[in-house]
Amino acid sequence: MSADASQKVMVASAQACSNIALVKYWGKRDVALNLPVSGSLSIALEALSTRTRMEFNADLTQDTLALGGAAPVAAPARVSTCLDLLRAQAGVRWRARIDSVNNFPTGAGLASSASGYAALVLAAAAALGLPQDRRALSRIARQGSGSAARSIFGGFVEMTAGVRSDGEDAVARPLLEPAAWPLEVVVAITAQEAKAVGSGAGMEISRRTSPFYAAWLAAGEDDLAAARAAVLARDFAALSRVSEHSCLKMHGVMLSSEPALVYWNGATVAAIQRIRALREQQGLAVFFTVDAGPQVKAICGPGAAGAVAQALRAVAGVQAVTMSGLGEGARLLASEADA
Ligand code: PMV
Repeated sequence: MSADASQKVMVASAQACSNIALVKYWGKRDVALNLPVSGSLSIALEALSTRTRMEFNADLTQDTLALGGAAPVAAPARVSTCLDLLRAQAGVRWRARIDSVNNFPTGAGLASSASGYAALVLAAAAALGLPQDRRALSRIARQGSGSAARSIFGGFVEMTAGVRSDGEDAVARPLLEPAAWPLEVVVAITAQEAKAVGSGAGMEISRRTSPFYAAWLAAGEDDLAAARAAVLARDFAALSRVSEHSCLKMHGVMLSSEPALVYWNGATVAAIQRIRALREQQGLAVFFTVDAGPQVKAICGPGAAGAVAQALRAVAGVQAVTMSGLGEGARLLASEADA
């Protein structure tokens, strides 16, 4: 953080990794507070990250966001909601200028909101001189995007849905450090454009219309328990089973919504089939997951990522392949030159 009273600015920068859920949440128990209806379990992705510079400035009249070097625009309401919570704690009213850069496509199912809000709240807390309590920051990041609560932490992370109506217990916690089980992820990009229906709107459509929604929720706690146990035991086969099942059940809910939410394209299906064949026919330690978008993420046991990446590159319709290790939690950048 750097504060200069004479210049009336407070500045800090932070970086956060994206994450992908192995046990998904899809639905809210409170839309206004952005409370997930069920818990989730994710891994942080080292190679997909957001860097954000926050500047609170006495002369600004509104919060603005400049994404990827573009001209600043009015910040989305959820950004200001997160900043208001931090401003209230710090007793500061200054508006902020946010400069944020993703090193991957935005809004295409690669969880740019997760890394984005996690970097935002950490940088903002530091700029405002607030303590960087990770649980508290996770709770605030959740108000931006549910998955962002998880990106405050690194490695394997569990998000609890909580039961309190004020959402104080809807918070993420770290389960296992990345080095304790160094899985790798191969991301197959099958389309670059932003998705047609965002996750928040999609979840509401599913809650209102999918005949499978209740069954999906009923299984959530069991899936979470199975995945948590698999992570703590480093049991790759057990984690594969529960993760693929959670993913396909979520897409079953999406597909059975009205209007239907079809996030996949042909290459998504082809990549999934290739991953299943790599495991079942070639014995590779790999399983897939897909979020609210067309990209396929192959989670690989130690040593399998090279062969998986090569196989996915050869799938028709796969435009690019990115490899990632597991990432650390959100961190401050020492100087603005790092941002
Ligand atoms: O919290 P959001 O708005 O980023 O939505 C997350 C939705 C999924 O990625 C499909 C599931 C999840 O648990 O991350």
